[in-house]
Amino acid sequence: MQDLNAENVTDAVIAQMATTPDPRLREIMEAAVRHLHAFAREVNLTPEEWLKGIAFLTAVGQMCTPIRQEFILLSDTLGLSRLVNVMHDSQGREAAGTETSLLGPFFREQAPEIALGGSIAQRSQGPEIMLYGQVTDSAGKGIGGAWVDVWQTDAEGMYDLQAHDPEVMEMRGRLRCDAEGRFHFRTLKPLGYSIPMDGPVGELVRKQGRHGFRPAHIHILVAAPGYRELVTALYFGDDKHVDSDTVFGVSKSLVVTDRTDLPDAPVPRMPSVRYDFTLSRETDGSGGRVGSDPSKLVPAG
Ligand code: BEZ
Ligand code: FE
Repeated sequence: MQDLNAENVTDAVIAQMATTPDPRLREIMEAAVRHLHAFAREVNLTPEEWLKGIAFLTAVGQMCTPIRQEFILLSDTLGLSRLVNVMHDSQGREAAGTETSLLGPFFREQAPEIALGGSIAQRSQGPEIMLYGQVTDSAGKGIGGAWVDVWQTDAEGMYDLQAHDPEVMEMRGRLRCDAEGRFHFRTLKPLGYSIPMDGPVGELVRKQGRHGFRPAHIHILVAAPGYRELVTALYFGDDKHVDSDTVFGVSKSLVVTDRTDLPDAPVPRMPSVRYDFTLSRETDGSGGRVGSDPSKLVPAG
């Protein structure tokens, strides 16, 4: 029998888990145990502190419902969603496409279909902008008929799920690109907003002296058969939180400014943003990202 101490307990756990038949599960769990034990040693974790940690993780789990995924929010605020998504983006596709960004918790299937040139603001009021561009492949060839799903906050910084009866779909829509992959639609200039701060993750963010805000953005999901689905967002450069997004979703290439002097704007002098999206072909069929369909993570009942 082995006497277990702070040094050899890690190897004893890993030795016992060596019977795991699934090699990927074995690799992941071995690394998880090694890093968790190293973390506890590094900070000299006390039993009282670890019980607090367990109480925190319990509260995170208890906050989850089919429409509220507090664990994804935790992963987002720790930058882990960003890390996992960025690693995924660099693998299994034939060429780099438009950079991705977080899906977030407010995506909804079956948003209303909007005709090209139409508006996703059915009832909300505020300063109007136009978003237009083209969906292309990595060689720059337009992808006719690509689907563009968009969703965002209104001019008060609220998503429809927060501002209206949950049946109402507002500030979101689906557009079908024309034969050259071009699209244009009207929307309102979004406002930045706070992530949900009424749960354990918000409490942690506050304790860390962080502001909890995301800069103003428009979420975009672009899909076409044979291409990797693109989940991204455009961020407005004039938002004061653009350099300190609390969930680390911003990339330089996704920062935009609305302008009234774009020569090819569909409506001359209307504040507009032009953005072209590049899809890359899938080479390994690996689809998912952190955040896709969070409702599947919550057991029914
Ligand atoms: C959002 O963009 O809507 C979002 C993303 C991650 C966490 C919370 C909100
Ligand atoms: Fe968002």
